[in-house]
Order: sequence, then C-alpha cells, then structure tokens
Amino acid sequence: MLTTLERADIESITFGGHDSSVTQVRGYQNYDISDKQVLPINNPGHKRPWVDTRVKFEDFNRIFHSVSPKSYADFGSNLGFYVFVCAQEYDIPAVGVDYNMEYIAVCESIKARHSASLATFKHTNLEQWRDGVYEFMTVFNVIHHLYNRTEKYMDMYRLIKDFADKADTILFEVPTEQDSKGHKWTMDTGYTEALFYENALKLFNQVERMPGQTEHRPYYLCVK
Ligand SMILES: C[S@@+](CC[C@H](N)C(=O)[O-])C[C@H]1O[C@@H](n2cnc3c(N)ncnc32)[C@H](O)[C@@H]1O
Repeated sequence: MLTTLERADIESITFGGHDSSVTQVRGYQNYDISDKQVLPINNPGHKRPWVDTRVKFEDFNRIFHSVSPKSYADFGSNLGFYVFVCAQEYDIPAVGVDYNMEYIAVCESIKARHSASLATFKHTNLEQWRDGVYEFMTVFNVIHHLYNRTEKYMDMYRLIKDFADKADTILFEVPTEQDSKGHKWTMDTGYTEALFYENALKLFNQVERMPGQTEHRPYYLCVK
C-alpha cells in the first residue's frame, strides 16, 4: 500500500449527467474531454501560477510531434490530461502512473465514460513500477518529490537511471533548487539542477535544456 502525503488537488469533475457529452476536469490540470476531443484550459483562477495546462500543452505538443513516438508513458500523471491526449487525439497506447489512488480512480472513471481504450492507469511509484520500455515518457514537475519526499532516492544517478531504464526519450520538467517547491521539498539534500544535468549526461546520449513555464522549471529533453 502506498502512503499518500496529501489529498489530491482536484477542484471538480463535472460529468454533467446522462445527456452530457463533455466532462469538465478542474484542479491541478484543467481540461474538457469528450469522446473525440481533449481540450486544454488555461488556469481558471490565480492558483498554481507555475503550471497552466494550456500553456504547457503547447510545449508538449511540439515536442511530442518532433519525437513522433508509438508508445507513451506519463509519470506523475495526475488528472490524466497528457495520457488522454495521446490516447484520444494522437491514437497511441498511453500509460499514466501515479502514486495517489484518488487521481487514478478519477482517471479510470473518465476513461470509462469516454471509451478511452488506449489509456491505461497504474497505481504505483517509480521504485515499484515494473513493465515495458516506452518510446516517449514525460516526467513533469515530479522529480523533486522523489528525491526525499514521496520516495527517498537521495541519489540522482539512481533516480535518473530508474527513469532512463523505462523510455528511449524522456522529457523532464525539473523544478530547480531555486524554485520555491523545489527548495521546499529538497533543502539540505544536495539536490540541484547541476546535479541533474551531470547525471543525465551519464545516462543519455543527448541532453537538451529548454526554457519552461517559469525560469526555475526548465525542460530537459533526454534521448538515449
Ligand atoms: C506536482 S504534480 C505534477 C502533475 C503533472 N505531472 C503535471 O505536471 O501536470 C505531481 C504528481 O506526481 C504524483 N506523484 C508524486 N510522487 C509520486 C511518486 N513517488 N510516484 C508516482 N507519482 C507521484 C502526485 O500524485 C501528482 O499527481
């Protein structure tokens, strides 16, 4: 049994009754989903200024198409936005992994309602996650939690290796030690962006840094 450290960041899931074709998902991720379409929404309020589903989708969409994968996994899949985009819009098998059963349960309901048969959700964490190798994986805004909070890696090489073993190309969004949450969850552990970069270079052939949604949350596109 995985111990969850906090309640899921879910504002509302509006299914809208028998006749509704669109489900509205609001919380850490914000989107509307129907059987045919997954539509990212800008943050409805002032909460979570460091993450906006619609803005981040632009980056995801561009990079996804440059990689053009046939399989996809999202680690820390939250309310399932990227998994449903890949399954419903890009038509490839997509797996979401999250250690919080609340998110997994909500995603399973959305999947059932909109017949998203290419989407799969797994309730696990990185240390316990065992299955195949994916062509493309995203690890957005979660690596700082694994260092010494929801998992206890405390070893950047082993942490990045456990990801690298699971995908050919990985897009990380890395809250640095300058980011307020990055600092809060990793202070006094030695976690830094420089340490991430140094170890990513040991495990991937190509490591490219790109600007993120905020100055202190850059992306790293890592290719084996
Ligand atoms: C800050 S949110 C980021 C959500 C999403 N990746 C995004 O950027 O839109 C972190 C997510 O990772 C999940 N998470 C945290 N620690 C985890 C772990 N050790 N294993 C799997 N999921 C984890 C949380 O439940 C949450 O959904």
